Amino acid sequence: MKKIILFADTGIDDFIALTYALKNPEVDLLGVVSGYGNIEREKTYRNVEYLLELAGRTDIPVIAGATRPLSGEEPAFFPDIHGIEGLGPINPPIPEERYSNRSNFSKLFDLIKNNRNDVTIVNVGRCTSLATAHYLSPEVMEDVKETYLMGGAFLEPGNATEVAEANFYGDPIAANYVCRHVANLTIVPLNVTRNALLTPGDVHFIDTRSDSPLEELIKPILDYYYEVYQQQEPGIAGTPQHDLAALMAALDIDGLYEYKKREVKVEYEGNFAYGESIADFRPGAGDCFGPTCTRITMKINQDIFVSNVLKILTN
Ligand code: BDR
Ligand code: CA
Repeated sequence: MKKIILFADTGIDDFIALTYALKNPEVDLLGVVSGYGNIEREKTYRNVEYLLELAGRTDIPVIAGATRPLSGEEPAFFPDIHGIEGLGPINPPIPEERYSNRSNFSKLFDLIKNNRNDVTIVNVGRCTSLATAHYLSPEVMEDVKETYLMGGAFLEPGNATEVAEANFYGDPIAANYVCRHVANLTIVPLNVTRNALLTPGDVHFIDTRSDSPLEELIKPILDYYYEVYQQQEPGIAGTPQHDLAALMAALDIDGLYEYKKREVKVEYEGNFAYGESIADFRPGAGDCFGPTCTRITMKINQDIFVSNVLKILTN
């Protein structure tokens, strides 16, 4: 069983990752750090509280993360993709003000100290909160066993810009810091998560087995997400589950991924390539070694992905 702390900006695909984490007996979800990203921090925080209440898991601590990128700029939000409240057509009944003031990183550090060398961090939003935790307490963060990021795009287009993926684009200073300094790091980039698709048929199948208030949100939210994706990428066969794909990388599922190891940098100053993730994939470049060498997923096995997701979400 893996002890996981999820850093998220919930968000539609974050919601699916959270639901999967709650349902998978291999995951012990120690806490959620909830920052700005897809929508404002107050809303992501409220969404996680709401979803945990629906799941009957209010024992899981939620820690309020960052509200803006390290550049100090105003963040760009994406209500056109995730809906005004972040959960597509769902309006959580809880007013966000009720939860607006719970930044408590000492809770995060306690979780890590109490589970020394046994915590896996999965970061599926901007890297701001994670980089901040490393700035604030490097000695505690050293005791994190491994870190997974959903972010970046290698050798293929981005989604926020021609070259940049949304999580890295949202805070490239933080993303670069994490890629350059955090040990035992794995990146699950957009060019791979694009292929972690759930089709409308998969969603229908999950819906026929849904029997809890949390699970009953899956179909309306993913139907909404499907319509959004059809407008953006007409003909796409389903909805890409970016964040779930990153979480699943942490679970060592046999045959799910192929990897390469590279030094990764993120452009945080450029005029035209702001937020671009860079690694050396030139012919002849091989795997790197050393503490800042990052493992990058290169390819996902879609059959293994779908069968695992259906198994977990319908059990
Ligand atoms: C990433 O950006 C957000 O929209 C998603 O939640 C995901 O984490 C995909 O680029
Ligand atoms: Ca996300």
